Amino acid sequence: MFMLELAVNNKMSDLKTLFSNFNIVGPISLAVAIPWIMFKMFSAVWIKKNYNELAGKVVVITGASSGLGEALAHEFYKLGAQVVLCARRRQELERVRTDLLHTYCKDTTHPPIIIPLDLSKYNDMQNHVDKILSITGRIDILVNNGGISHRGRVKDTTIDVDKNIMDVNYFGAVALTKAVLPDMLKKKSGHIVFISSIQGLVALPDRSAYSASKHALQAFGDSLRAEVASDNISVSTISPGYIKTQLSMNALTGSGQTYGEMDATTASGFTPDYAAKEIVRAVVVKRKELVLSTLLPKIAIFLRKYFPFLYFVVMERRAKRASLAELAKSKPDEKTN
Ligand SMILES: NC(=O)c1ccc[n+]([C@@H]2O[C@H](COP(=O)([O-])OP(=O)(O)OC[C@H]3O[C@@H](n4cnc5c(N)ncnc54)[C@H](OP(=O)(O)O)[C@@H]3O)[C@@H](O)[C@H]2O)c1
Repeated sequence: MFMLELAVNNKMSDLKTLFSNFNIVGPISLAVAIPWIMFKMFSAVWIKKNYNELAGKVVVITGASSGLGEALAHEFYKLGAQVVLCARRRQELERVRTDLLHTYCKDTTHPPIIIPLDLSKYNDMQNHVDKILSITGRIDILVNNGGISHRGRVKDTTIDVDKNIMDVNYFGAVALTKAVLPDMLKKKSGHIVFISSIQGLVALPDRSAYSASKHALQAFGDSLRAEVASDNISVSTISPGYIKTQLSMNALTGSGQTYGEMDATTASGFTPDYAAKEIVRAVVVKRKELVLSTLLPKIAIFLRKYFPFLYFVVMERRAKRASLAELAKSKPDEKTN
């Protein structure tokens, strides 16, 4: 009986301690929760205000004739921005413009402008920017999105292909940025966005030219961001993983042919619409960089930085697997023997 009483008393004292802990936990939770809720509310209001401020902004988008650029054009246009659509294929730009005009309310938005341009002809960029400025009077946001990928071993890739990819992905974006910058500096406002890639942070085998061009873009963006911060100009570098677009279809092989295959990784990537929404949000909140991917590419970035030896092993294996697959493709009979 005595033992039973002792056990009951012990339980009661445990419960008392528990309740007295609740007395402490309660105020602490409130002290943390109230500022957190207030922060969330203020940031929601701030983000909403920034979204609203996109209305009437002039947004120049390269690579707007397909894929991610087209989705970005929809996203910015939907929010009331005046979009300037740039790429080489005029007909595709016309299609995107017609689609925008038919999809959204025309009263609240400005008609999209089309500027056909070839990023590899980077000496022409100043003329294109002058033309845009003569129409719109200003450029608020430049989205350097146009780009081309690469499929091929270093040993099989001609230097002309390396140069072509560098011209489009790097020098084209750099030239356009330099052409836009003086006006932004004069107005002390603007936002420059670079659509890089996960491959701007970690290089893959068989993508040397593409990875190199995107690494260069990352570095250029970092330097520029520091230089123009005091002039109220923002720089955002976006590093997407796979997005379901025509990128692999349009990639160049080592000899400069069009690759023409939809990679399984690209086919299973994010939709361009989802990626565009996330990118516009990053612009709205003025994010300096955004890695827009699933977990695996993020792990690769982590390994490259903190455990490079592991990353090197993984990439060596990937290159070896790709070689064997290539061999099996070129000698199908031997594979079945
Ligand atoms: N898809 C992905 O998995 C992925 C992943 C990471 C990063 N990205 C990046 O996202 C950007 C958009 O690519 P995407 O995926 O949307 O591929 P996409 O559908 O092939 O679009 C590429 C765009 O770039 C334009 N372009 C290509 N060469 C050009 C040139 N010489 N001058 C001007 N424009 C040119 C193309 O237009 P024209 O042919 O009409 O010129 C097209 O509008 C690229 O920078 C790419 O590196 C894509």
